[in-house]
Amino acid sequence: MDENLPLNEYVNHHKGSYDQFYKESLENPEKFWQEHSKIIDWYRNFDQVLDQSSAPFYRWFTNGKLNVSYNALDRHVKSFRRNKAAIIWVGEDGREKIVTYHGLLKRVNAFAKALIDSGIRKGDRVAIYLPMVIETPVVMLACARIGAVFTVIFSGFGASAIAERINDCGAKVVITADGGRRNGKIIPLKNIVDEALEDTKTVETVIVLKNTQNEVDMVEGRDFWYHEVASDERALVEPERMDSNDPLFILYTSGTTGKPKGVVHGNGGYSVWVSNTLKWAFDPKEDDRWWCAADIGWITGHSYIVFAPLLLGLTSIMYEGSITYPGPDRMWQIVEKYGVNILYTSPTAIRMLMRYGDSYPKKYDLSSLRILGSVGEPINPAAWHWFYSVIGSDRCPIIDTYWQTETGGFIISPSANLGIGPLKPGSATFPMPGIAPVILDENGNECKENEKGYICIQRPWPGMMLTLNGDDERYVKVYFSRFPGRYFNGDFAMKDKDGYYWLLGRSDEVIKVSGHRLGTIEIEDALVSFPEISEAAVISKPDNVKGEAIISFVIPKRGITPDRHLSERIKKEVRERLGPIIVPEEIHFVESLPKTRSGKIMRRVLKAVYLNQIPGDLTTLENEASVEDIKNAIEMLKKEKI
Ligand code: WTA
Repeated sequence: MDENLPLNEYVNHHKGSYDQFYKESLENPEKFWQEHSKIIDWYRNFDQVLDQSSAPFYRWFTNGKLNVSYNALDRHVKSFRRNKAAIIWVGEDGREKIVTYHGLLKRVNAFAKALIDSGIRKGDRVAIYLPMVIETPVVMLACARIGAVFTVIFSGFGASAIAERINDCGAKVVITADGGRRNGKIIPLKNIVDEALEDTKTVETVIVLKNTQNEVDMVEGRDFWYHEVASDERALVEPERMDSNDPLFILYTSGTTGKPKGVVHGNGGYSVWVSNTLKWAFDPKEDDRWWCAADIGWITGHSYIVFAPLLLGLTSIMYEGSITYPGPDRMWQIVEKYGVNILYTSPTAIRMLMRYGDSYPKKYDLSSLRILGSVGEPINPAAWHWFYSVIGSDRCPIIDTYWQTETGGFIISPSANLGIGPLKPGSATFPMPGIAPVILDENGNECKENEKGYICIQRPWPGMMLTLNGDDERYVKVYFSRFPGRYFNGDFAMKDKDGYYWLLGRSDEVIKVSGHRLGTIEIEDALVSFPEISEAAVISKPDNVKGEAIISFVIPKRGITPDRHLSERIKKEVRERLGPIIVPEEIHFVESLPKTRSGKIMRRVLKAVYLNQIPGDLTTLENEASVEDIKNAIEMLKKEKI
């Protein structure tokens, strides 16, 4: 490990400034957050920095009043940033739209008026199922402006995933598009919404953006065209004065049970957190072009394509589609054309692009890059070195940001703005200011140096979620009961002798496929809903590009003879219902599954057998024959493939 990598201007940045800053954040949090909450303009100052009286429902900046869209737009429009590019949108086919802060505010006002005209008010729930188009941040900011709580549903999800989310949050309106573009194809979003709405009761209005011009059915009285309802370019909608702890959005994410968790983020703490963490970690400059190459359907896109960059008045690049379409040089082309200064992407994207070799990036001038970033899963050293050398020409530090949907923003990451010191490839380095991590063993004792354990956070921080939608009890149970008083997030980690944190993957039933967070139990639920299947178990196998790939084992019902047609049909239907990311790569038909005597499926045994490893302790296994059965099924599928 080379501890003295050259880090352009950051090489001279002494880590001491970070240490001091971090220390202050923990020693005097009141003063620290009083100071750093000023990154936001408040209509009314808060009474208290942190109210812990109903812990673990921590409330930040109590009784403070603000509006997120005012902070992201109006205040910049009043400044020298009026005509600055807020968003540079790049289409898959190379079209571009440059929207200034003033232009974005006009669009947001027009849509906020459309929402009000449809009867949407503060506290109402809005579902957004849009592709990566300019209107997505417009709709999110319009909701924030009027205080409607939005939930963005990833446009790769299928009808039943949409219905489940709409039903959980009780959305009154859905904003969608005729279609979205991905890899040169059109995904018929409106048709998928129509199918989802057959299983929902709360939706009164559907607003449809004309984007890909494909045919759609419009339901009289329910469905309206976006360009018709949001046509008032001169609309002025006064921003609602939101309480710091009013919800801003809900984002569904996978956990250890089948039902996705509706993570609720608030207005005040979240805004303070995302804007400060972006500033600390990536040190963006006024004239930078910042590109977070994520999808807005996930938390990374919420926090770091939309909210943090706009709150800071930066120029945020937004790319519509696949990073390998039309060719594997798409990303480098965009970096050169727009002079991207900070590029924030994922290990899975890096590994995918790396496979195409160095010739693609080498064709482009990437000298505008100053800082690189990674998120979503631990970055393996090979990908780190390629990113560092081939893309960053050994000049740009890699900011490996570790965080989660629930944390709102980065929690462990190098801080370019405060001083990073030497990096270690694969380590997310040190905690963000205000974050007090601890690594615990099974019994809740602190782990020693280099000892793997459960990473927890010992104190609240402003970006943490408020609760899980409609389920306070689950919030307490999932995050605060394993190690009482501490936030437990499900990841393994260790700390080395120099105090660097190394993230070591999930400790629970959550897997990461191409950076997407999926619950194995969600996938199992989808499989057992087929009339031909009685039981299912899902594991993951390591995958060189995706990080992990989904492998499933299913028991067919009596009288069903499984064959390739059945597995193809299952894959097709899962794709339609839940979306392509949830489709298992392999389906193995078995007669039994390894279970404990109490009937719990032993995924650990399945995984070991699958990976040809020693399955470990089998004393709790009830049916040893299942192991042979699984081995046979795996062999069968291999043979069929030949
Ligand atoms: C994993 C994505 C290692 C981790 C922002 C976490 C990471 C889960 C990193 C959250 C990283 C994310 N290094 N692991 N830099 N970033 N993870 O909610 O397992 O989609 O718990 O949020 O991704 O995934 P989520």
